[in-house]
Amino acid sequence: MALHDILFGPFPLTLGILSISLYWVLWYLRRGKQAQAQTQTVTDGPPFYPFDPAALDRKEPYFTQSETPILTFGNSMILPNRYAHEIRNNDHLSFRDGLEKDFLTTVPGLEALFTGTFHNDIVWDTASAFSRQISALIEPLSTETGIFLQENWGDDAEWHSIPLNDSMHLLIAQLTARIFIGEELCRDRAWIQLDISYTAHRTAAIKELPQYGRLIPIVHWFLPSCRALRACVRAARPFVERVLEARREQAQGQGKKQRESIDALSWIDGVAGRTKYDPTLTQLRLAYAAVHTTSDMMAKVVAAICEHDELIQPLREEIVAVVKEHGWSEAALAKMVLLDSVLKETQRLEPLASFTLSRIAREAVVLSDGTRIPKGTQVRLTTDNMWNSSVYPDAAKFDGYRFVRLRDQDTATGTATATGTPSGGLSFVSVSANHMGFGYGKHACPGRFFAGAETKIALCHVLLKYDVELVDGGLAGAQTDGMMIWRDKRAMLRVRRRSGEIEV
Ligand code: HEM
Ligand SMILES: *[C@@H]1O[C@H](CO)[C@@H](O)[C@H](O)[C@H]1NC(C)=O
Ligand SMILES: *[C@@H]1O[C@H](CO)[C@@H](O)[C@H](O)[C@H]1NC(C)=O
Repeated sequence: MALHDILFGPFPLTLGILSISLYWVLWYLRRGKQAQAQTQTVTDGPPFYPFDPAALDRKEPYFTQSETPILTFGNSMILPNRYAHEIRNNDHLSFRDGLEKDFLTTVPGLEALFTGTFHNDIVWDTASAFSRQISALIEPLSTETGIFLQENWGDDAEWHSIPLNDSMHLLIAQLTARIFIGEELCRDRAWIQLDISYTAHRTAAIKELPQYGRLIPIVHWFLPSCRALRACVRAARPFVERVLEARREQAQGQGKKQRESIDALSWIDGVAGRTKYDPTLTQLRLAYAAVHTTSDMMAKVVAAICEHDELIQPLREEIVAVVKEHGWSEAALAKMVLLDSVLKETQRLEPLASFTLSRIAREAVVLSDGTRIPKGTQVRLTTDNMWNSSVYPDAAKFDGYRFVRLRDQDTATGTATATGTPSGGLSFVSVSANHMGFGYGKHACPGRFFAGAETKIALCHVLLKYDVELVDGGLAGAQTDGMMIWRDKRAMLRVRRRSGEIEV
């Protein structure tokens, strides 16, 4: 028999097809098992189901006055939204302890925030410091968005497909890295990959570990997700150290000039002074807080805009008018009220999670109506005011103009503060008991101003430069998995380059 017949004859061919099929069957079964194992550790409810705010807009409150106003989720006590005012700033309800429990920050590899040390505080401080200097971030964020879109979405005037989740993730990772670690690494695929894998492994570890209870201190040394996480930190070190070394040399040469630098790496190094700290963990921890949260927001808002494409034209007109008048400035971003409203409305219907304000009682707390929170209990709050039609008329309906109108009413009735900023938590970055997408109270997300600027700048580029559509509208609906709410990760966009009204 000729070699050709052996290789391509019917027998080996059949064998080949069989073994490939068997491989797929095995892969599929294994994957099914893994998926099952994963979802069971997070929630006792159905694994994934469509997220439907209308179902949560109950006629009857699910916490009636007569019974204890409490549901449970895992071991935590879930309080209704109406307690927001009492929970938000109560010092006996510890935010830090909540973080430690939710994010297992005492486990090696996951420790990036050590309670009460420089490492811990600096993540918070960096997020708020950079939130206070938005005007310095606009130019780099805008330039970087341009670079990303040019490379990844291109100039093709014909429709072509882009994966929604991946593209938003990579864009936000690059933008965030531009500000946190600088130009050298933000376009380095290897660094971006480390940044993203760190978050993925950390999330996996946090899901897996709790089931081991008291064995966690031993098990984490062997668990694949924890080992992968530590490997990731080791791989990240040379990147960070190399750049930091260069920055320090530069700073010595330039003296004071270094302080004007806007990347978080050198900013943190300046603040640290002689204090010992771990620059790599700090960077990874910052990315962990900033990247997946903001890219989730971007994916949701882009999907929402596609689903309500009547908004595209007015959004473009607003951006063009505002940028023509104010240039690329903080004032311009603030004047994009429709864009702001669309972001806030998207977050209202599809927040990151359906519970917020995770806290642990350091002392027993008695709430105003006599509800007792025993010492050591973890509490969370529902965010169901966001889906309540008494608070937001026709609450289940997406209305891009909702917050534009609410702001107008606010101004008309004189409830706005003297500075003209809305009083009622009506802009994207403001928080209120009726909209806790960024939390509420003194621990509300310190990075929200940064996230607001970043998403607005990215959306300006996307809307002016591209026509966008969802490939399969059905795939894109919001889903929930325990506490988290997300868009289907398989959703695809169709985009084509257009000639923008103005250069961005
Ligand atoms: C749309 C994007 C984002 C959402 C939806 C979001 C949401 C949240 C929420 C709900 C909290 C908890 C607040 C509470 O318990 O009261 C939080 C905390 C926090 N956020 Fe954000 N966030 C976003 C983006 C960012 C960004 C860009 C940064 C960094 C620049 C950041 C840094 C932090 C930090 C440092 C905390 C404190 C807890 C921690 O250390 O993890 N966030 N965020
Ligand atoms: C909706 O909000 C109204 C007004 O605040 C409140 O009376 C009602 O109990 C809320 N409904 C639910 C389901 O929480
Ligand atoms: C979303 O995109 C990021 C970046 O490419 C990727 O790491 C992540 O696995 C994606 N999520 C899913 C569920 O596909």
